Amino acid sequence: MNVPDIIIAVDGFSATGKSTFAKMVAKEFGFLYLDSGAMYRGVTLFSMENGMIAEDGAIDEAALKAVVEDLDLHFRNIDGKTCLYLGERCIETEIRTLAVSSHVSPVSAIPFVRNYVDRKLRAFSEGGRVIMDGRDIGTTVFPNAELKVFMTADPEVRALRRYDEMVEKGETPVFEDVVKNLAERDYIDSHRETSPLRQPEDAFVMDNTHMTLHEELVWCLGVIQGKFGILEAPALSW
Ligand code: DC
Repeated sequence: MNVPDIIIAVDGFSATGKSTFAKMVAKEFGFLYLDSGAMYRGVTLFSMENGMIAEDGAIDEAALKAVVEDLDLHFRNIDGKTCLYLGERCIETEIRTLAVSSHVSPVSAIPFVRNYVDRKLRAFSEGGRVIMDGRDIGTTVFPNAELKVFMTADPEVRALRRYDEMVEKGETPVFEDVVKNLAERDYIDSHRETSPLRQPEDAFVMDNTHMTLHEELVWCLGVIQGKFGILEAPALSW
C-alpha cells in the first residue's frame, strides 16, 4: 500500500506503547521514526551529570538555561535503529534508567526546554515522511500533522509493560516504584502549564490494553486507508 509523505503524530500517556507502535509503523512504511521523549531524557541526563539537579529534585534552571541552546542532541541511525547522541556520545541506554525517568517530567515542564526541543524536532523532520511520538506532538509540535493517533491503555497493563522492559534490559526495578513513577509522570505531564498532554480533537484514539502488535498495525492501516481514501488492499510484511 502506498502511504503518502505525511507526518504522523503519536501522543499518549507514559508506557502506552507509543514508541513500539511508531517504530513498527515506520519500518512497515519506510518512515523516519523520531522519539521526542528521548530529547527530554537527553536534557535531563545532561542536567543530572552536570550537577543541575539536586538530591531533592530541585532543578538549577538558571544554569540549564545558560547552556541548553548549545546542547548538541541529535539522532543517528545505527543498524536501522534511531539512537540519541549528545555530541559524539551515544546516550541511548543512560536515558532509559529509572533515575532519568524520575526527573524527566519536571525538566520537560520547563518552557525554555520545551522551546529548545520543539525547534530541534521540527528541524529533524524537514522533508516529512516522519512518525514522531510524545505528549504534545499533535497539539503543539505538529498541530497540522496529517494523521494524529492518541494511545491509551489500562494503568496496570502499562506498568507491567514498563517493568518487563526494564527487567529485559538487566535492571532490577521494584514494581511499586514503576507504578508510582508512571502515576507521577501522568499527573505532571497532563497538568503542566506549557503544552500539557491532551488528546488532540482530530486524533484517532487507540486503546491497546488488549491488542497485539499485529492488531495495532492492522488498525493503523485501516485508519490510513480511510483517511486518505486508499482503496488498494493492504499487504503487510508480517
Ligand atoms: O515518552 P517518554 O516516557 O520517553 O517521555 C519522557 C518524558 O518526557 C515524559 O514524562 C514527558 C516528557 N515528554 C513531553 O513532555 N513531551 C513530549 N513530546 C515527549 C515527552
